[in-house]
Amino acid sequence: MKFDKSNQLLPRFQALIPGAGHTYAKGEDQYPAGMAPFIVRGQGSRVFDVDGNQFIEYGSGLRSVTLGHAYAPVVAAARAQLELGVNFIRPATIELEAAELFREMVPSAEMVKFSKDGSDATSGALKLARAHTGRDLVAICANHPFFSVDDWFIGASGMPGGIPQVVRDLTVKFIYNDLASLEAVFAQHPGQIAAVVLEAEKETPPAPGFFDGIRAICDRHGAVFILDEMITGFRWHNGGAQARYGIRPDLSTFGKALGNGFSVSALAGKREIMKLGGSDHDRERVFLMSTTHGAETHGLAAAIATMNVYRKEPVIETLWKRGERLATGLKKAAAAAGVVGAVPILGPPCCLVFGSRDAAGEPSQPFRTLLMQEIIKRGILATSLVVNYSHSEADIDATIEAFAESFVIYRRALDEGIEKYLTGRPVKPAIRKFA
Ligand SMILES: Cc1ncc(COP(=O)(O)O)c(C=O)c1O
Repeated sequence: MKFDKSNQLLPRFQALIPGAGHTYAKGEDQYPAGMAPFIVRGQGSRVFDVDGNQFIEYGSGLRSVTLGHAYAPVVAAARAQLELGVNFIRPATIELEAAELFREMVPSAEMVKFSKDGSDATSGALKLARAHTGRDLVAICANHPFFSVDDWFIGASGMPGGIPQVVRDLTVKFIYNDLASLEAVFAQHPGQIAAVVLEAEKETPPAPGFFDGIRAICDRHGAVFILDEMITGFRWHNGGAQARYGIRPDLSTFGKALGNGFSVSALAGKREIMKLGGSDHDRERVFLMSTTHGAETHGLAAAIATMNVYRKEPVIETLWKRGERLATGLKKAAAAAGVVGAVPILGPPCCLVFGSRDAAGEPSQPFRTLLMQEIIKRGILATSLVVNYSHSEADIDATIEAFAESFVIYRRALDEGIEKYLTGRPVKPAIRKFA
């Protein structure tokens, strides 16, 4: 496998685009040196790069492509809408059609507003919460890696450059599955916390009573409960993780899977709070997610087509089934190679990730890089193991085989030293303070 053309393109990307691409999580620094392919097209579970390589890909579109690349019914719906125009001086009827279908999928959506990026939706939710409560602080879950590109979140991340300290100080943190830690932040900042923001689940499932506990704490302190369903929405369940686990948020935010990779996101929830973004009330109005491209019609057409596939076909069931097959096969292969502890396969089957530990059992970026180096060579492009509906059983089995061979090399590197096997610099976390 050659990467000559990708490697020639890299300096041109670096010279013109800060970060050498438009999303840090797709960055060259997330891949082994000299093995960061630039993509020319995708089809189903596969992507094709500029050098003519073909990969089985995981985590497509940063988990947004749930059905598969260029999924025919979604493309057809978007194409048909393109012919009718994409943006007008008045709302298009498709905005109501998409909203009504979304409400059928997500029953907590008493009202819904669409936008383009997930960040618009989570930041919109926080703005509503602040207006509703008259408070400034937000309590976010410290174990969850991303909620928004906006200052309220990035200011509290490992890369807060350019964000004033006064803004950074408005975000406080609590621990997942630890209600006492949430109680503690409310106790430290009495009457100041507008909202609690978290995802439903990452690698660890919610402890019994955790979400009911959050509901009760928010009610007791008059704070708004915001559930970020950007990843869990239409992957855990057609109604989101809230439907799977019976979670009762005030507001919830969706994106990613909503449009199978098209740019469309949604903020949904209680009428009493959502309506502050409208004009049928006497309170101060909230400027809620009003952008030029917010209701671009082909994105909404894609969302409608995508939601209809979710409704009519066993998408969720298939994602979980494929993930189970993948996890089972990988765990077996890891056991055979003697790397079970070193490469843990984590998360629910619909959203798996792999860990990478060194000989001392510590999380290791060099070992992550080595594993990626070996799987990429074998035609697997994966920073996670997040499946989509187009991954066939044969794709899963080919992936297990590629990992099984790579695990053998991982084991040797654990025993003999990684320097002997890793050919370039290690990868780095996407969100970090310095280069
Ligand atoms: C859980 C979660 N929330 C919010 C976002 C922000 O969404 P977007 O990148 O579409 O703005 C992301 C993006 O990765 C996410 O993973």
